[in-house]
Order: sequence, then C-alpha cells, then structure tokens
Amino acid sequence: MRRLLSCLALLFVLAAPAMAEPVAKPIPIGIAVATTSNVALFGEEQVNGARIAEAYFNAQGGVNGTPIKLVIQDTAGDEAGAVNAFQSLISAKVVGIIGPTLSQQAFAAAPLAERAKVPVVAPSNTAKGIPQIGEYISRISAPMTVVAPISLKKALAINPNIKKVAVLFAQNDAFSTSETSVFQEAIKTLNLTMVSVQKFQTTDTDFTTQVTAILGARADLVVISGLAADSGNLVKQLRQFGYKGQIVGGNGLNSPNMFPVCGALCEGILVAQAYSPMAELPVNRDFVKKFTEAYKKAPAQFSAQAFTAVQAVVEALRKAEKDTKKKITSMELAEARQAVNKALLSGMVIHSPLGEISLDRQGEVIQKQFYVSTIKMNPDKKTGAFVLTK
Ligand code: ALA
Repeated sequence: MRRLLSCLALLFVLAAPAMAEPVAKPIPIGIAVATTSNVALFGEEQVNGARIAEAYFNAQGGVNGTPIKLVIQDTAGDEAGAVNAFQSLISAKVVGIIGPTLSQQAFAAAPLAERAKVPVVAPSNTAKGIPQIGEYISRISAPMTVVAPISLKKALAINPNIKKVAVLFAQNDAFSTSETSVFQEAIKTLNLTMVSVQKFQTTDTDFTTQVTAILGARADLVVISGLAADSGNLVKQLRQFGYKGQIVGGNGLNSPNMFPVCGALCEGILVAQAYSPMAELPVNRDFVKKFTEAYKKAPAQFSAQAFTAVQAVVEALRKAEKDTKKKITSMELAEARQAVNKALLSGMVIHSPLGEISLDRQGEVIQKQFYVSTIKMNPDKKTGAFVLTK
C-alpha cells in the first residue's frame, strides 16, 4: 500500500509540469522596452506611460475586479537584448507582452512570442511588416506609411517654394530604412527633386561627411529617419554647419528626450505625430493630468502609445472574460493567452488617448487622427514642446 502511494505521489510530481498552469493574480503583463542604451531615450517615456496606465486601470477595478501587474524587462537597444527580455517574460508567465521599442528588435524577438503563442502588442514599432510577423503580433503604433507623408505635405504648405530635398537615414535600423523608403516615395509623388541621399549608423556622432554633401547639394528641405540621439546630433551639426532650410523629422525625432541633444538648434523641426496631449478626449484628459502630476511634464507620443498598449491588453482581458464567461485567473495560461489574442483581433474599439482605434484581423492598427507639430525650445535650451502646426 505504502509502495503504491509513493508511486502515485511520484506520478503526481512527474505529471505536475504538464498540468494546468493557471494565470497568477494580479494578472502579469510583460513590458519589454529599452530602459538602457542609446534607445533609453524612448524606453523611459514608454515605462512612464505604462506605469500611469497600470495605476489608472487598477483604480477602475483592473480586469473586472482583478488587478493587473506590469513586469518590466529591459531590452537595451539591440536584438539580443530584446530576445532575452521576451524569453524571460514568456517564462515569467505573462498573459501578453508590450514591446519591444524598436522595429529592428521586433523582427528578432517577436517570432519567439509567436512560437510560444503569447500575444504581443507593439507600442512603438512603425516599420512595414510588423503585424505580419505572426498571428500573435499586433501593434497600436501607426505605421510610417500612413504618418510620414503628412509632415512633408505640411512643410510644402508652409513653404511652397521647397523644391530640392535631401534625405538621411540610419542604415543599420529596420525602422529608419523602412521610413526613408516611405519618405522617398512621397517626395517623388509630390514632384520634388531628391538632391542627396545620405546614410549613417544609429551609433554615429560625427556627421561631417553627410552634412557637407547636403550643403553642397543646396537642399531646401532635409528629411531625417533615425533614432533620438543620432538624429539630435545630426540636426545640431546641420545647423552648426550653416543649413538654414526646413527639417522634417521622422518618428525617431518624436521624443522630448531628444531636446537636450540638439538644444536650441532643435527649434522649428516638423514632426508628424500619432498623438497630441491637446486631444479633447476624456481618457486623454485623465492621462495628461495623471502623467503631468507624476512626471512634471506633458506626455509625448511614446508615453501615450505605451499607455494605449496597456489599455488594449486590459480591454482584451476584460473582453476575454466576458466572451468565455470565465475569470482570467481561473484559466490555464495558454488558454488565457489565446483568449487575449482573440479579443485583441476582434475589432473591438479602444477609446484611447490616441483617439478611437482598433486592430484589424491581422493586428494592424486603424487610427484616424494624426498631427503635425513644430518643435519650440524653451530659453533653457534643454526643454521644449511639440506645438501643433496650424
Ligand atoms: N518607431 C521606431 C521603430 O519602429 C521606434 O523602431
């Protein structure tokens, strides 16, 4: 009898790992963004936005009474860091992952989540092809194909005499190469002449060669596709070398953390944005208020998108409970992950700080409202604002 019992006990232990792995309480949601490296200029804003969302939705009762808990993992700025962060969040039994910061990292790390059937909501990946990585991969960050041309049109509306355009892009970054192709196509469509195409690396700090070429080409518009630190330095050197024309920045220049890099010389850059803190929406008013109270500054696009990504997962968790008539915390982890993904791709409308958005069946965001802002620097030359361009 004793032998039989110990055999049964052993069987139980052996069988245990294969048995139900329930979802923990509070419900863990993974955040995999760059809180270190040159990309930390973005990641810091993302963590700030996600933290506000965590407190905001928990104050509303979380997921029908069950709180959520963010599990934050640093991806640093490269692919290996993102792969490690995704791996550890998958092992930490999160119901979904929000991240990574860069498209370049998404192409390396998101396939891991896809294989593990863990839903991913990309909060800032804007390159072409992100939702196409797999069935479990979606994004709330509008692709540059939609956003980029808007800023060019605005530059022309402000100065119809613009004819000669120079473009610069970070050739070692998937988002920047994707974005520049969208800009270059738009330049042709608008019948402008591309007088110079210059490449750089996201780690570069000296842009003498590129700036000299652009000045030689007598460009009257410069369009930059890079990340925050490199682009900031590039802007600075363009101005220091004497470039006086308009500068249009892509999504990498969409961060107030870039302001100290180019200082007063950031003034006047035009940037298309998927978010405005001025948007008159109840959830945005709450978000701006709580963010400003916590961080003493208005939220920028990366923060608003991170808030929205958390919101998308929370609303998907709520919907999953409604549709299955089960509590998430009573589900096995695999079942919960699948139910969250199904809800995310159901077309549900999310009233977010970005406006009314939804995801199509492939996980691509559908967003209607975009903005073009002009950077206005403060006299301290370190802080400034994205001011809506009329
Ligand atoms: N929008 C940038 C990217 O997709 C941050 O990499």
